Amino acid sequence: MSEAIRPITTPVIPEWNRELLFKILDNINDVVLVIDRDTTIVYANDAYLRHLGVPVKKVLGRRLDKIEPGSPTITCLKTGRPRQGTGYVESLNIHVVGNSFPLYNGQEIIGAVSIFKNITEIVELSRKLKQTQGVADYLKEQLEQRENIPASFKEYIGQNPRIKETLALAAKVARTDSTVLILGESGVGKEVLARAIYNGSKRKDKPFIKVNCAAIPENLIESELFGYEDGAFTGAKKGGKLGKFELAHGGTIFLDEIGDMSTTTQAKVLRVLQEKEFERVGGTKSVRVDIRVIAATNRNLEAMIKKGDFRRDLYYRLNIVPLRLPPMRERKDDILKLAYTFLNKHSKELEREFTLSPQVVKFLHEYDWPGNIRELQNVIEHASIVCSGSVIELHHLPKHILPLPDEEPEIPENPYDLKEIISQVEKDLILSALSNYNNNRTKSMEALGISRRAFYEKLRKYGIDDKNQEQPQNMTTK
Ligand SMILES: Nc1ncnc2c1ncn2[C@@H]1O[C@H](COP(=O)(O)OP(=O)(O)OP(=O)(O)O)[C@@H](O)[C@H]1O
Ligand SMILES: [Mg+2]
Repeated sequence: MSEAIRPITTPVIPEWNRELLFKILDNINDVVLVIDRDTTIVYANDAYLRHLGVPVKKVLGRRLDKIEPGSPTITCLKTGRPRQGTGYVESLNIHVVGNSFPLYNGQEIIGAVSIFKNITEIVELSRKLKQTQGVADYLKEQLEQRENIPASFKEYIGQNPRIKETLALAAKVARTDSTVLILGESGVGKEVLARAIYNGSKRKDKPFIKVNCAAIPENLIESELFGYEDGAFTGAKKGGKLGKFELAHGGTIFLDEIGDMSTTTQAKVLRVLQEKEFERVGGTKSVRVDIRVIAATNRNLEAMIKKGDFRRDLYYRLNIVPLRLPPMRERKDDILKLAYTFLNKHSKELEREFTLSPQVVKFLHEYDWPGNIRELQNVIEHASIVCSGSVIELHHLPKHILPLPDEEPEIPENPYDLKEIISQVEKDLILSALSNYNNNRTKSMEALGISRRAFYEKLRKYGIDDKNQEQPQNMTTK
C-alpha cells in the first residue's frame, strides 16, 4: 500500500483488510458500482439490490455497455472526467442521482466508479406535484374567469368555444385601460362587445361616446372629433363646440368603422392616442384628455396597410388587444340560442308564443348568414310578423334568403351568347319543373321530356344539388 493510505490502525482495528473495506462499502446507503476498462462490472455493493432490485451476482462480470450503453459511468471512462447530477437508467426505468469518476493507475485509466441512489419515487412525486399545481392553477384561472366576467358579458349570447375565448379575453381587458381593437364582419356584434367592455370597466359610470367614422363626411370629421373654437369657420356655432374626444374625457371613446377613416384623420387620431392631447379646430392651445379607446372595423386593416389606405403606426397603436368575432357561419352552435332569444323578444311584444319548425331549424343551420347576427335578427323579426300561427315555417322567412328556383334570370355579359342563354333557359326550366312538381324528380324529368341520365347530368352541371330535393313542400309554394 502506498503512502496515500490514510486510515490508521489501532489494537481494535489492527489491519485495514479487504473484508473490512467491503463491509463498509456494503453499508453505504448509495449504490457503489465499479467497472473496468472494457466496462465489465467488477464490483457492486449491497445497495445495488436495494436500489435497483437486481441481485449483485446477476450483473457481476457483465459489460455495462451492453446493459446501459448511455450510462454516465461509461462516458466518464471514455473522457476521463468526473460527472455528477441526475440521470435516467433506461434498462431499469429508474431515475438516479449521484456522481461518477474515473479510476487511474498512474496516467492510465483502468476503470470508473459510480456512486448513486434511486430517486424515481422523488421524481414521480415531484412530477405529480407539478401536475397538481398546474391543474390547481388552471382551475383557479377558470374560476377567476367565471367569477370576474362582468354581468355585461354574461348577457352576451354565445356558447361557441371561440366566442367564449374572446369573451374571457374581453372581460380581462375590460378591467384595464388598454386600447381594444374589435375585428369582425358586418353584423357579428362588434358594437355589442364594445359596450360590454365599457360596462365591465371601471369607467362605466363615465361617458361612452361612439363615433361612426364611416358616417361623418370628411370635411366635418375633424370638428366632430376635436371640436372647434368660437368663430373657427363660417357657420360655426357661437361659443364653439366640444368634440367627441372631449366629450369622452374620463370615459371611453368607441371609434367604430375605424377602417373607413381617411389617412389624414388617422394621423390626427394617432396623435391623440399617443399624446392624449390635441387642438380644437381654429384653436391654438392643447387640450388634454383622459380616454379609453375601443375601435372596431369590418375591414381587413392589414390589407389596407399594404395598399397604403391605413397607417401602420396607427394600426400598431390600436392592435394592442385585438378581439376577433367569428362570423355566424363559423359559430353555428349559437344560431338556435340567438334565434330563440330574438323570438322570445317578439313573443313578448306580440303576446304570442312561437316555435321554429324542424325545417326552419335545418335551414337556419344551412344558410350562410352573410349579414350575421343582424341578419338573423331581421329574419326572425320578419317571420314573427308574417306568421299568424305559432309555428314558424320556411315560407314565413323572407323570400330573398330562401333558395327558391324563381330567381331573377342572370343577364349574360354578351346578350347574343347563344350557349349561355340556352344554358340559362335550361337551368330555369329544370328549376321551374322541380318547383312545380314539389321536387319530384321523376315527374320533373317526364315533364321536361328528357332521360333520367340527361336530367341528373344537368342537375350536376347547373349545381342544383340535393338540398332542393329535401326541401319540404312549403318551400316551393309560389
Ligand atoms: N351576442 C349577442 N347577443 C344578442 N344580440 C346580439 C349579439 N351580438 C350582436 N347582437 C345583435 O346583432 C346586431 C348587430 O350587432 P352589432 O351592431 O354589434 O354588430 P357590428 O359587428 O357592430 O356590425 P357592423 O359591422 O354592421 O356595425 C345588433 O342588433 C345586436 O343587438
Ligand atoms: Mg357596428
